[in-house]
Amino acid sequence: LKHIALLGHGVVGSGVHELFHKNRESINEKLGEEVIISKILVRNLSKYSEEPEFKKFTDTFTSDFYADVDFVIEVMGSISPAYEYVKKALEAGKHVITANKDLIAEKGEELSKIATANNAVLNFEASVAGGIPIIKTVKESLAGNTIDRITAILNGTTNFILSKMYEDDMDYDTALKLAQEAGFAEANPTSDVMGYDAARKLSILTRLAFDKVIPWKKISIQGITGVDRRDIQFAKSQKYKIKLVATSFYNGSHIYATVQPAFVHRSSVIGKIDNEFNTVVINGDAVGEIVFSGKGAGRLPTASAILGDLMDIIINKKKTSSGQLAEKCEMMNYWPFECNWFVRLKSKGDPISIDNIFNCFDQSEVQIKDLKDLTDVGFIVKAQDEKYIKDRVMDFLAHNTNLSIKYYKIFEDVMK
Ligand SMILES: NC(=O)c1ccc[n+]([C@@H]2O[C@H](COP(=O)([O-])OP(=O)(O)OC[C@H]3O[C@@H](n4cnc5c(N)ncnc54)[C@H](OP(=O)(O)O)[C@@H]3O)[C@@H](O)[C@H]2O)c1
Repeated sequence: LKHIALLGHGVVGSGVHELFHKNRESINEKLGEEVIISKILVRNLSKYSEEPEFKKFTDTFTSDFYADVDFVIEVMGSISPAYEYVKKALEAGKHVITANKDLIAEKGEELSKIATANNAVLNFEASVAGGIPIIKTVKESLAGNTIDRITAILNGTTNFILSKMYEDDMDYDTALKLAQEAGFAEANPTSDVMGYDAARKLSILTRLAFDKVIPWKKISIQGITGVDRRDIQFAKSQKYKIKLVATSFYNGSHIYATVQPAFVHRSSVIGKIDNEFNTVVINGDAVGEIVFSGKGAGRLPTASAILGDLMDIIINKKKTSSGQLAEKCEMMNYWPFECNWFVRLKSKGDPISIDNIFNCFDQSEVQIKDLKDLTDVGFIVKAQDEKYIKDRVMDFLAHNTNLSIKYYKIFEDVMK
């Protein structure tokens, strides 16, 4: 008989509990031994007094909490005290499964080392893209490849908001409110809409794909709060959508990683992923381009990833955690490839002089223009790399102090 301690019984924890009970017989049959959830740690015990298994619930983490436990499932969230509880479990040689991307992005490296030193496994499939089995795929199934690039939508909340802005011509605030009402955005949506959540997940995936450590805070991150209806309308008029794209690649010496709103062709793989769905596109040298899409969050999809991790540990229990002991790596600040950019200029006063634009951006590279309103001008410009566009923008602003400017990368090359 094996015992599980469940740390947390909120959205995901209750999903794990339910799914575990529903599939208990088949789980036991597959494993050839009985496994039970024997302890459930929560913060506010009184909330759970009506639970049929209330006697298993506790709000007290004692020094001998793990004495009779074989597996720990951490679904509490945040860094502390999850970090201390997970560390303690691993030090005691207990296998840990977590859905906590904050914890893994921040402390994954250290916890993996502790796991390895104690012959324990740390699995975290649910921490990236919820129900989509991407961690195991990158770590194991694609191990025969050199992965060149990851391009992904890793945050369902922002994808839902951008989808509503695109489909129903909503402004950002209305779409955010709708996302909150539909349960896709939290009351405090900062981590999602500012791009931090996607960046944490990208740092986890990047570490596994390239065997290189990049702290998530070093990723160049831009959220979606600055995206407005006119950006979306312009994108739409050119058959693009705006998505919060997380991308990274390794050039042999440096990692480039960004999370930013970008134009993607509406019929591309990424352009077709709408609402709360997530997608991860991986380019491997042997396999080529492969695509994973599905529910990136939610009670049961996330529970599915957690139970998959549990089965994995039990079936292959001698295998210790791998793929996390990566080296540190320098970051590249600019997208080094030629691509198109959408640039939008807004005047705080007089109409914008088109000559000014052409003096600053190479006229032959300015392709599609929206000049209907000369106080708010949009155009697409080709640039040899991101540094070129940033330099031009800085230069332009230096000479045109009454203007504000924003620009979006256009991803043309992700599988159409
Ligand atoms: N929700 C999703 O769709 C989703 C998807 C993928 C990954 N995740 C990750 O899964 C984790 C859990 O998310 P969730 O949405 O299930 O959160 P949640 O609904 O807020 O549940 C958190 C649970 O942990 C308990 N808890 C929190 N702090 C605690 C503490 N200091 N001591 C004891 N218990 C504590 C809470 O107890 P009380 O109920 O007593 O407050 C609650 O049962 C997070 O890391 C999240 O990022 C979530």
